[in-house]
Amino acid sequence: MNPKVIEKPELKNKGVKVFSSLDDVNLSLKGENVRFFTGNSNRALAQSICDYLDVPLSSATVTKFQNQEIQVKIEESVRGKDVYVIQSTCKPVNDNLMELLIMIDALSRASARQITAVVPHYGYAKQEKKASGREPISAKLVANLITVAGADRVITIDLHAAAIQGFFDIPVDNLYAMPIMTDYVLNDGKFDNKDLVVVSPDAGGVARARGFADKVGTSLAIVFKRRPKPDEAVVMDIVGEVKGKDVLIYDDMISTGGTLIKTAEALIEKGAKEIYAFATHPIFAGSSIDIIEKSPIKEIVVTDTIPIPRASSKIKVLSVAPLLGEAIKRNYFNLSVSKLFR
Ligand code: R5P
Repeated sequence: MNPKVIEKPELKNKGVKVFSSLDDVNLSLKGENVRFFTGNSNRALAQSICDYLDVPLSSATVTKFQNQEIQVKIEESVRGKDVYVIQSTCKPVNDNLMELLIMIDALSRASARQITAVVPHYGYAKQEKKASGREPISAKLVANLITVAGADRVITIDLHAAAIQGFFDIPVDNLYAMPIMTDYVLNDGKFDNKDLVVVSPDAGGVARARGFADKVGTSLAIVFKRRPKPDEAVVMDIVGEVKGKDVLIYDDMISTGGTLIKTAEALIEKGAKEIYAFATHPIFAGSSIDIIEKSPIKEIVVTDTIPIPRASSKIKVLSVAPLLGEAIKRNYFNLSVSKLFR
């Protein structure tokens, strides 16, 4: 059954749709012993989460000294409070990561009772294993840094590799944006009556794309790619029937856009019709939006885990604020979050 869309008046102006299947915990954080802070990575999302929860975003000064070191000042007491720091470690990755770490340190030293790092996009996630000798495992280093800074728990979305959860010795809720994407496909109307196929743009994303295909009720095709060097993608082969079909490419992130564009071109060569792309994290490195705009892709659906550098008529942004808001609410009241993994 498709979830029913309900409008929350306070979010309506922001165009945020809330799905009834998410919004079933009849408890409010209003007046609770809880505070929300953000750095500079994605203030709009932090505000949307607070609007969803009907709580204020607390004040913190997060700026830089003249020597470019991060300067943080938490502007209100957090003693004995449950604190959520909402900060994506997107570009500028190192600044945003340091802001997160230093904010956690400041909150810990200010005697917060419990600190949850809400990291909608977890940077350095692609460096989660040694692909060859003498390489780091940066995703593990980042996990260590967040833990040592003083976080008690992490909430994130679509980790590039699920195994990164195990890099932490504190609880990690790795949420999925997939329900938001499937709700869009099933409710928007533009995909009705189309002969659709979901495509995974690489072997590593097959399980993710398989889940998406199952939810929207389509078949699955797989693109095999290789990377001759970092940030460069070459399509090797396509397994599955795409001829005459409209395609939904499903990925976790778009960085240079190389994977997406090479995949779209290869699919068109194999006789695919309209190409749509879905990806949780819109990294959009460099001039990738310009390149994507000139590509044959009809629409790119992403979420707001990362603010996009500029608007584009080809890019549709769906909000993860209700998903994160519900996860936070359930965490605070010690309720199961497994419903959010549907
Ligand atoms: C790869 O494993 C990922 O799932 C994405 O396909 C990749 O990170 C996208 O990067 P780019 O846009 O630079 O090709």
